[in-house]
Amino acid sequence: MRISAIWGLIALVIWKTEAMPPRIEGGRKQEQPRDEGTSYDSLELGSYDPNLDNYDLSNYEERAIKNDYGEPTPKVRLTEMGLVVKSRGVRATGRALKMDLLYPLYFGPLSDLGLPTCLVCVCLGTSVYCDDADLERIPPLPQETTYFYARFNHISRIQSEDFKGLRKLKRIDLTSNSISTIEDDALQLLPALQELIIPENKLIFLPKLPGSLVRLDAQFNNLRGSGILPESFKKLEFLYLSDNEMDYIPVPLPSSLRSLHLQNNHIQKIQEGTFCDAEDHKYVRRVLEDIRLDGNPINLSLTPNAYFCLPRLPIGSYI
Ligand SMILES: *[C@@H]1O[C@H](CO)[C@@H](O)[C@H](O)[C@H]1NC(C)=O
Repeated sequence: MRISAIWGLIALVIWKTEAMPPRIEGGRKQEQPRDEGTSYDSLELGSYDPNLDNYDLSNYEERAIKNDYGEPTPKVRLTEMGLVVKSRGVRATGRALKMDLLYPLYFGPLSDLGLPTCLVCVCLGTSVYCDDADLERIPPLPQETTYFYARFNHISRIQSEDFKGLRKLKRIDLTSNSISTIEDDALQLLPALQELIIPENKLIFLPKLPGSLVRLDAQFNNLRGSGILPESFKKLEFLYLSDNEMDYIPVPLPSSLRSLHLQNNHIQKIQEGTFCDAEDHKYVRRVLEDIRLDGNPINLSLTPNAYFCLPRLPIGSYI
């Protein structure tokens, strides 16, 4: 992490803390102390509390316009030097903070909390980090977003509009949410999407996915098999579906596949042609070196001719 970026974040946090004092009208809510450090501790964000649920933000914008929350307004200026925050004698400068870093911080779309997404989340270049922020839905993302992380939140649904038009989005990481539904066109039209990382959710079906996908990680869900259509994947290399309710191996497996993890499912049998082409004994799947079928009620000895094209036998029970 560059020093200038750290300065920028510290400056932002000072501004943010000043701009949104945790004053709760009517004393309805109490500010909760954070019980555990987030992964941003290394950025030295100190007492920054991303848990915006604790703030009454219902008329934040209105109050911000009227400036009637009784605190001195911090003066934030954009200068050639970067970001300058001046408030109550505190002065912090983010020297040489790049404009591409500042852009989403100040002009990003409003999130469902009524704040620019990059105040709720941390935007670093084209990466947006929204981990452990009590989100219940995907926040509106800057057009330039390339890597999006929203791990450890309470998101239950992905809607068509959530990622719409994000033509540069390469990676979505939604590890450990409560996602049970992904609308069918929510991800299919993302032309650059390479990695969908969505383990520890409640998915029963996968939605239609773009053919650009290289890695699909949906371990620890409730997937049953139907809805997984790997024939559309020409580039898929890593397919991680362990700890689901799968009762068959999704076929046809793309020839680009390198890893297939299906351990701890309900697979009882495999077809002779699942991995290899029974008609074409010259066909070799050179790259598929990592197949895991352990933890399934399947006896791999019953299909002795299913593996001849593989560089290695699948891991699983042969007795
Ligand atoms: C698995 O299949 C092999 C070969 O047919 C057989 O010898 C073995 O007893 C089977 N194991 C179980 C647990 O059914």
